Amino acid sequence: MGLPMRPSPRKPSFAILRLYRTGQNTPDAVRRAREPMREYPSVPHSVLVSKHIYREAIDHLAGRVAVDYNDSDESLSGEQLRARLGGKHGVICQLTDHIDASLLDAAPSVRVVSNIAVGFDNIDVAAATERGVIVTNTPGVLTDTTADLAFALILGAGRRIGESERYLRAGRYRQWRIDLLTGWDVWGATLGIFGMGRIGQAVARRGRGFNMRVLYHDPFRLSEDAERALGIEFAPKGAVLKQADFVSLHCALTPETRHLIGAAELRAMKPTSVLVNTSRGPVVDEAALADALQAGTIAAAGLDVFEREPEVHPKLLQCENALMVPHIASASAATRTRMCVMAAENMLAGLAGERPPDIVNPEVLD
Ligand code: GLV
Repeated sequence: MGLPMRPSPRKPSFAILRLYRTGQNTPDAVRRAREPMREYPSVPHSVLVSKHIYREAIDHLAGRVAVDYNDSDESLSGEQLRARLGGKHGVICQLTDHIDASLLDAAPSVRVVSNIAVGFDNIDVAAATERGVIVTNTPGVLTDTTADLAFALILGAGRRIGESERYLRAGRYRQWRIDLLTGWDVWGATLGIFGMGRIGQAVARRGRGFNMRVLYHDPFRLSEDAERALGIEFAPKGAVLKQADFVSLHCALTPETRHLIGAAELRAMKPTSVLVNTSRGPVVDEAALADALQAGTIAAAGLDVFEREPEVHPKLLQCENALMVPHIASASAATRTRMCVMAAENMLAGLAGERPPDIVNPEVLD
């Protein structure tokens, strides 16, 4: 680019301090936090950060680009986004921001849309590609954190942890009973996974650690070597539903996966089975799930995501056998910080005319 390179700044020491404060100071995490930041040429560009993010990412951007930071937990409305995007070259956005064709048309100076999430169904990627706009996401760094939460929901829904805690807090624990709040064993059970990407594989590894038989379905079957290494078996959708004691969803939301699990699929599952969703809400027909939980078609569900977030289907809220959390699968401070810094790096690379490390529409550069 012929532009002067800025000296590579050290990572702020509070990134390391945060690891210690939150007890996440594993040697690997501390080593990563000490790694020097990559260098990017200083470019005279202007970037909108749509919502509050971790400070480390703002520090990473500052001095390299002009930052218009909406340092608030409130999302900008469509209209506010449109107004703030005027004259900007990039936007660092979150899954609560809807970036569609009309917004991109209203902001023709935007060259890079950097999403702080692995999923990018909030962005019309085809429209971005048509307009020559780079779209990036944050894969990899959140895999294990997300898989941990999926497994927590498997254990929590299977062993009725939410219900048990509510029971205790309500002062109902007056005597121990042989059949008090009995659930379903995870150890040695059959785990069915839909979507065998990075997160699906990480959940499979946890399942194998719990001596589970792991079946999976995915339109793209893994190689035999990969299946053997993971200890997993490919099966048709119907067979996974029929045999699994726990079904965990790890597919991206696409037109093909919308309502992948509906009334018919729930009926195909065992009455003792548990459904876990940490992918995207619309992958499950929430009304059908609430009916199935109430009717005992399946035993329980563990849900991190919902069809119309932050709304939760009112019938689900009445289901004692639904263990529900507010879209926190990747929510460890260390992982969320890394996701924010990664989004900033993707943005700077894209604006500098480089190929961003996590581009989702590489064809835009062809
Ligand atoms: C969170 O849901 C993500 O896609 O990163």
